[in-house]
Amino acid sequence: MRVCVIGTGYVGLVTGACLSHIGHHVICVDNNEAKVKLMQAGQSPIFEPGLSEIMQSSIQSGRLEFTTDIAAGVEHGEILFIAVGTPALPNGESDTRYVEAVARGIGSNLKGGYKVIVNKSTVPIGSGDWVRMIVLDGIAERQKAEAQPVLATAGGGVDEVMPSAVTGDYDFDVVSNPEFLREGSAVFDTFNPDRIVLGSNNNDRPIKLMKELYAPIVERQFAEVKSVPPVPVVVTDLSSAEMIKYAANAFLATKISFINEVANICDRVGADVSQVAKGIGLDSRIGSKFLQAGLGWGGSCFPKDVSALIHTADDYGYETQLLKAAVSVNERQRLIVVEKLQQALKILKGKTIGLLGLTFKPDTDDLRDAPALNVIENLARLGAKVKAYDPIISQTGMRHGLSDVIVETDAERLADGCDALALITEWEQFLSLDYIKMAKLMNTPILIDGRNFLNQPVMEEAGFRYIGIGR
Ligand code: NAD
Ligand code: UDX
Repeated sequence: MRVCVIGTGYVGLVTGACLSHIGHHVICVDNNEAKVKLMQAGQSPIFEPGLSEIMQSSIQSGRLEFTTDIAAGVEHGEILFIAVGTPALPNGESDTRYVEAVARGIGSNLKGGYKVIVNKSTVPIGSGDWVRMIVLDGIAERQKAEAQPVLATAGGGVDEVMPSAVTGDYDFDVVSNPEFLREGSAVFDTFNPDRIVLGSNNNDRPIKLMKELYAPIVERQFAEVKSVPPVPVVVTDLSSAEMIKYAANAFLATKISFINEVANICDRVGADVSQVAKGIGLDSRIGSKFLQAGLGWGGSCFPKDVSALIHTADDYGYETQLLKAAVSVNERQRLIVVEKLQQALKILKGKTIGLLGLTFKPDTDDLRDAPALNVIENLARLGAKVKAYDPIISQTGMRHGLSDVIVETDAERLADGCDALALITEWEQFLSLDYIKMAKLMNTPILIDGRNFLNQPVMEEAGFRYIGIGR
């Protein structure tokens, strides 16, 4: 099938690359010229395991192209994905201006032939109909512009005879197809989804095409485990699909806040939250995933999506209590590393603290809303000198948003002269650092494990005073 993906960030690029890998002809559109040049050369502008490989093979096969030209993309695609960012505004509301610009751009370039316009971006509930309206606006604006010279030479009151609404046949449907991939395993998640959600107010034509698009994934042709039943496809109305995305993220974020609250109680009563999580997670009604206590959830999705849902509820006169509590537990949890450093070192002013990891989770270069940023800000405010080592940020030099921190090139340089280390991100390679050497390089070998990732006896044997979260 012919597909166009507009917006090639973590979601758009992975979607475009994976859809081309399964046999579709995909044109990816982005308005960032530098990014497009890089992608045309087969390089991924983001760090995502396995992505460069499938990009390169799809480019070679001619099934994956990149452009800044939205008109070319819209003309090519029978299915047009909107995958631009929807960051949070200062009041927590979702900023939909990029979605609006793209929907307008689609409208003003829409010619004949049926199209499915897919909201892949996480958009506020009700956006499906709104996107439809903006696309129609875009068409009307173009018709108005095209009509202008003709009418003007006809010499008559242009404004009076301008088309006020779309004329002609523009046949399209809007579908909501929320994305559930996780950064760091985005390619795996795309080929091995738990479900595919398709929301539409016209259940026949667009859903049939979307099912055809995803058929190889639904049939698990590209899945790691091929023998399981097909991927469930959940077909809903537009608003329900939009709500599913927010509800899923809000549930997972709340689950993490729950276990973090339990961890804080464990800390006080002398229980071990890792054992508690195992004990409750084996109850199939609870499930073992997303029960990892630590310094809180971050990233480009949970914080903004929970805030947006709270904001939407407010708009409709409903004050959320549980979700607000999940956010406030998380805000407090982000300070737990600083609190534990204060308990261990007392005064932080003039002390040097080394952070192991900066990104909001391992296997990504994404620093958006990373808990590390709060830790750095608070340590700097308390007068500590902050250093950090992150396997990807230290390598790539992508330090956007990082101030008040010295980024070291390896873990031993980080440890040198530190009064304490704090593990912020559970990168796999942190399991095999030379902790004996690192402990010797430190002023005081204290380690706060903000992710309960390291083995306490091993760390103690290496010479550290080990302090976890809720253990
Ligand atoms: P991103 O910021 O990484 O990428 C957005 C891309 O859109 C950028 O490359 C930008 O240059 C491009 N863009 C912006 N305006 C454009 C325009 N007018 N025309 C063409 N390109 C334009 O965003 P992301 O993290 O991929 O998120 C995209 C959407 O997917 C968001 O709504 C997000 O909530 C949702 N989502 C993200 C994730 C994730 O893990 N990142 C997971 C699920 C859903
Ligand atoms: C999340 C959703 O999982 C995904 O479905 C959605 O599409 C985008 O948002 P992502 O943000 O990439 O994905 O990572 P995720 O693995 O969910 O982790 C989010 C945050 O929660 C991270 O900061 C992580 O460290 C934290 N987390 C996760 C915990 O603190 N404990 C856990 O048990 C799991």
